[in-house]
Amino acid sequence: MELITAGGMRMPKLGLGTWRLKGTECTEAVLGALQRGYRHIDTAQMYGNEDAVGEALAATRVARADIHLTTKVWWENLAPDAMRRAMDNSLTQLKTSYVDLYLIHWPAPDMDLPAALGQLVKFQEQGLARHIGVSNFPAALLKRAVEEIRAPICCNQVEYHVLRDQSAVLSYLRAHGMALTAYCPLAQGRLAEHPALDAIARKHNATPAQVALKWLLDQDGVAAIPKAGRATSQQANLDALALVLDDADRAAIAALPKTERFVNPGFAPAWDVPAEGRAA
Ligand SMILES: NC(=O)c1ccc[n+]([C@@H]2O[C@H](COP(=O)([O-])OP(=O)(O)OC[C@H]3O[C@@H](n4cnc5c(N)ncnc54)[C@H](OP(=O)(O)O)[C@@H]3O)[C@@H](O)[C@H]2O)c1
Repeated sequence: MELITAGGMRMPKLGLGTWRLKGTECTEAVLGALQRGYRHIDTAQMYGNEDAVGEALAATRVARADIHLTTKVWWENLAPDAMRRAMDNSLTQLKTSYVDLYLIHWPAPDMDLPAALGQLVKFQEQGLARHIGVSNFPAALLKRAVEEIRAPICCNQVEYHVLRDQSAVLSYLRAHGMALTAYCPLAQGRLAEHPALDAIARKHNATPAQVALKWLLDQDGVAAIPKAGRATSQQANLDALALVLDDADRAAIAALPKTERFVNPGFAPAWDVPAEGRAA
């Protein structure tokens, strides 16, 4: 599996998302994924499944050191005390002494950003998080974290797929040697049946979901974490790594509208203005 290197972090480009997987279904999905060759698992305090992910980590034959594990602290818990409690709880649930990447899940409207980033740095210094980062940070906020506060973050996890432009965030991350992790890479499953992707997929004897995924994974500095509960989806997403897209495929995908956003809660920050129709 190809790795992204960012700020000393080495993270497999393809990971398994776990949002909405719970209990035994979640444990079995993570165990199956690890058995199939996945080495990157994405969870969060908010998903309510860290215990189920932890069960899989405890039961698998794959060594902990070979697994990249990401979790996230919820935006209502960004005061340093609350962050410490969240981290303790995540590690207990996950049955591990460290996570590979710890993210601020969403920026909070009224947060003390220097204090929250300072606490992330402490987690890193204490060895509780090997690497630290953010999620759902628009380019302007990212710039503040990196240039004003000088936080050693190495990743921003954002919604990114063939129907969403992320060129502002991506070019900033690339310029600073940081990774972009694409969440909802399949637009929450919608891209499994997209006509333009279907036309490309037929040409390659692949599926639209595989085309959508490979388009992301072909981009420098971009990882993707499709959620796949079904074994067939997990395998299809691994098989997508072998797909070879050509210039005509990329041009067809670049021409799709890029203004869709499927995760946009009331507490979301002011997003970057999308560059209509621009490819990454
Ligand atoms: N940082 C954030 O704020 C944030 C927000 C949203 C999500 N995330 C993370 O990103 C992950 C992925 O996002 P998501 O779960 O919202 O959506 P997604 O990965 O875009 O789509 C998941 C859906 O696609 C289906 N699927 C997966 N592989 C497929 C394939 N090869 N062919 C056909 N269908 C396929 C899944 O079905 P089955 O499960 O039935 O196989 C599921 O219904 C989350 O699980 C979570 O870890 C982070």
